[in-house]
Amino acid sequence: MDLSNPGTLANLEAAFGGESMANRKYLFFADVAKQLGNAELAKLFRDTAAQETEHAFAHFRLLHPELVIADAASLSDEQKQAILSRCLELAIEGETYEFTTMYPEFAAQARSDRDAGAEAEFNGQTAESQDHAAIFRKAASNFGFLTPIEQHHAERYGVALESLQGQGTAGQSADALAGKWICKVCSMIYDPAIGDPDSGITAGTPFEAIPEDWICPICQARKSSFVPYHEPELLAAA
Ligand SMILES: [Fe+2]
Ligand SMILES: [Fe+2]
Repeated sequence: MDLSNPGTLANLEAAFGGESMANRKYLFFADVAKQLGNAELAKLFRDTAAQETEHAFAHFRLLHPELVIADAASLSDEQKQAILSRCLELAIEGETYEFTTMYPEFAAQARSDRDAGAEAEFNGQTAESQDHAAIFRKAASNFGFLTPIEQHHAERYGVALESLQGQGTAGQSADALAGKWICKVCSMIYDPAIGDPDSGITAGTPFEAIPEDWICPICQARKSSFVPYHEPELLAAA
């Protein structure tokens, strides 16, 4: 594979993205089919999703030949560590882009779209613009919540990388961060300073004071799925 050809490189990345998206989309469809009682269709979507994963992996192997393991037994400890470090570096790169650039920009765009929608509505537009404004408001809120989640992912990978390099053991801070709680399912971090205004939880509401029927704004898990938030931390080597 000639990766000096920028067209093919871009196409491989697009193909990896497309197959990856198809995988998650079919898993979503499988969930829909299951909820509607069609087990056969759910299985078709799940089986196809698994095949899309293999297609995505085939593209990714071409994009990252340095991560392809031919014979693990023949690798030295140093070589193994270099490969695992590379995986963590790529993961940190992706998460960092998400929390520094992607979600902040998407949130700003969603807020301006929401305001444009509200304006259109004010000017006597249809219920459609009202629906759009509601979607954009929810999108802005989700993008905002996802920013610290991606930062949390990047920090956890960073700690794992330092641990791999022998600097200590990956763990978490002994003390929970005051007032913050994290969803065990999706890592949504509830911050009392922000609350969850879309669900009627105003800023300043302590987690303990949230009604029991509140659900995670990102993944819809129950309130009982949240635990006090401890920051990822490198613990001293034993
Ligand atoms: Fe992430
Ligand atoms: Fe969640």
